[in-house]
Amino acid sequence: MGLLDQLTKGTNEIPEHIRAMSTEEMEERVREIKQKLGSKLFIPGHHYQKDEVIQFADVTGDSLQLAQVSAKNTEAEYIVFCGVHFMAETADILTNENQKVILPDMRAGCSMADMADIHQTERAWELLTDMFGETMIPLTYVNSTAAIKSFVGEHGGATVTSSNAHKMVEWALGEKERILFLPDQHLGRNTAYDLGIPLDKMAVWDPINNKLIHEGNVEDIIVILWKGHCSVHENFTVKNIENVREQHPEMKIIVHPECSREVVELSDLNGSTKNIIDTIEKSPAGSQWAIGTEMNLVKRLIDQHPDKQIVSLNPYMCPCLTMNRIDLPHLLWSLENIVDHKPENIIKVDENVAHNAILALDRMLARA
Ligand code: 13P
Ligand code: SF4
Repeated sequence: MGLLDQLTKGTNEIPEHIRAMSTEEMEERVREIKQKLGSKLFIPGHHYQKDEVIQFADVTGDSLQLAQVSAKNTEAEYIVFCGVHFMAETADILTNENQKVILPDMRAGCSMADMADIHQTERAWELLTDMFGETMIPLTYVNSTAAIKSFVGEHGGATVTSSNAHKMVEWALGEKERILFLPDQHLGRNTAYDLGIPLDKMAVWDPINNKLIHEGNVEDIIVILWKGHCSVHENFTVKNIENVREQHPEMKIIVHPECSREVVELSDLNGSTKNIIDTIEKSPAGSQWAIGTEMNLVKRLIDQHPDKQIVSLNPYMCPCLTMNRIDLPHLLWSLENIVDHKPENIIKVDENVAHNAILALDRMLARA
């Protein structure tokens, strides 16, 4: 299906009878269907999902936790994944052939995952192998297509999430001299820097111009960062940090490691969505926080902790538009399709792709 078809399909697919329902009616119907399907149905929800959806999740988590629970769940016939496309693909790879993974809206992609395609990756590997020989190992953030996970698995590498990137980069450097880190340059740079690798030993691979960007001796390069980023987290800036420091000197700043090096450097703490949640939960009443991550999660933390002063690091908040595609009408539509025995939006990763992708995921899960 072409992009235009997908976009059009996404907006038209909600049937009239659902569109005519009130929120309360939709919620009631979701509850009824969940009750009816029982353990045949499993709904994982990423922390960035809207409240209207997350209230129905059987489990909520960051991308590592959701991969782990998907791998463990062998019972559910239908996994209705409230997250984005790469997460649903991961769940499909990690579940068995009798289980169907459904993404309620096919438009829920990830702009970062789209910044590396398999052809660019194969070309980059070829050119980099000409330069560095057999000294490289690939690592890919789970925010990537199944085809890239498969490439990485086939070449001896692994997936990483923001929760275990340090562990995985350390592991990879025990295997080979150099890492090609896809597709988020910021997570790669922040992690490698924390592990003591200086910035001048990191290069950037530009997949559009097939060019390695680095000043100095190429022999010194330890980490090659794919030139990708998250369009949500790039909206947190040094200026935002300066404003918070000026207006709320007592406030602590915590950001997701998909933020730029400069932003992470000037923040007090950084961590995955789970780490951010745990940090806020453990902090004492009266503590003050500016959080640099997606707005559904920041809003939820504000609501759940009225005893703490919490703001978004960027006062204009930063939504992930693709995560937001999954809403209550799409969730209900997916569930009704299951009940009517005509499930739609099934995410099925090609068997050959899954075969090597699972190697990359298993290398991570074994160490997570
Ligand atoms: P987590 O791994 O922290 O859940 O983050 C996933 C993501 O997409 C962040 O933008
Ligand atoms: Fe992708 Fe960024 Fe959205 Fe996470 S927040 S799903 S990395 S676009």
